[in-house]
Amino acid sequence: MTKKLALITGANSGIGLATAMSLAHRGFDLILLVRNEKKGSEARIELQKANPKSCIDLVIASLDDVDSVKQAAEQINTTYARLDVLINNAGYTPAKLEFNDQNIEKSFYASHVGHFALTWYLADLLKKTAAETGDVRIVTLSSAAHIGGKVSRMFRRIDNLSPMWAYCDDKLANLLFAKGAAAYFEGTGVRSFSVHPGAVRTNFASDIPGLGGTLFKLMGPLMRSPEKGAETSIFLAAAPLKSIGERNNGAYFADLAPKKPRNSDITDKNVNWLWDKTVEKIIATNGGHY
Ligand SMILES: NC(=O)c1ccc[n+]([C@@H]2O[C@H](COP(=O)([O-])OP(=O)(O)OC[C@H]3O[C@@H](n4cnc5c(N)ncnc54)[C@H](OP(=O)(O)O)[C@@H]3O)[C@@H](O)[C@H]2O)c1
Repeated sequence: MTKKLALITGANSGIGLATAMSLAHRGFDLILLVRNEKKGSEARIELQKANPKSCIDLVIASLDDVDSVKQAAEQINTTYARLDVLINNAGYTPAKLEFNDQNIEKSFYASHVGHFALTWYLADLLKKTAAETGDVRIVTLSSAAHIGGKVSRMFRRIDNLSPMWAYCDDKLANLLFAKGAAAYFEGTGVRSFSVHPGAVRTNFASDIPGLGGTLFKLMGPLMRSPEKGAETSIFLAAAPLKSIGERNNGAYFADLAPKKPRNSDITDKNVNWLWDKTVEKIIATNGGHY
């Protein structure tokens, strides 16, 4: 049987590394998309030891730089004839607000824009694989923090916004993107889901200053292991489609089951708005066909 290939962003640590480890044990070949070559090489060695038969490739890109994402996608498109699973996992809680030269908040750029661009530039490969297998999955890490997100703040420079609300916006955008991708790829065999992994003991939130950061550290012993936190991503990447349920394409999952997300901004109108806005602001200005 042909081996499946999965790409995982942020695969060098935390939930991403635990997801990669489990998929390697299940016989997947892997592409680790990371921004730090040294950390990526260390993860690659660890994963290769876990399953010497898996082919593990390292691709370097920073999700806050769409040019590097585009180059990474081009490298993958020319190297590989298939891509069965794309796991948009990387993300972080900003310690303070920073904006890029397009006035886009940087954690929003890395979490949403970078993953949107990666998916966009890999779309033909994903569709080609699905035309052969009927089964390609996109899994995007969101969070219960989507509850505090607001669509009206997205793509706007708000200098006095708390970094916590910025993170909530990132995670709402991830959830809306997963729904948008389900609609965009409808009928092609490419399905898309978002995930809340639970509160997981990783490097996540290690940069948060003040009381918030201290509280997060104190909660450490009560939090899930990365292996437990990766379970829903692994389920959506590797379980038979009938266990996931055809009607759940586009859904938000937690603890291996679809869950009703809680935010009145989750509407078809907003899903379409975010998709079109990201294409207009990012893809159209980077020479992507659409
Ligand atoms: N841990 C939790 O409690 C929790 C709860 C809900 C949702 N999540 C979500 O789960 C996902 C994984 O987080 P984690 O808990 O495993 O945290 P983590 O251990 O900090 O891992 C985050 C990964 O994302 C990478 N990353 C960050 N910014 C990047 C960028 N600009 N370009 C490329 N890669 C970048 C990091 O790379 P470096 O190692 O180079 O920094 C790291 O590999 C995130 O999307 C997070 O929002 C986590």
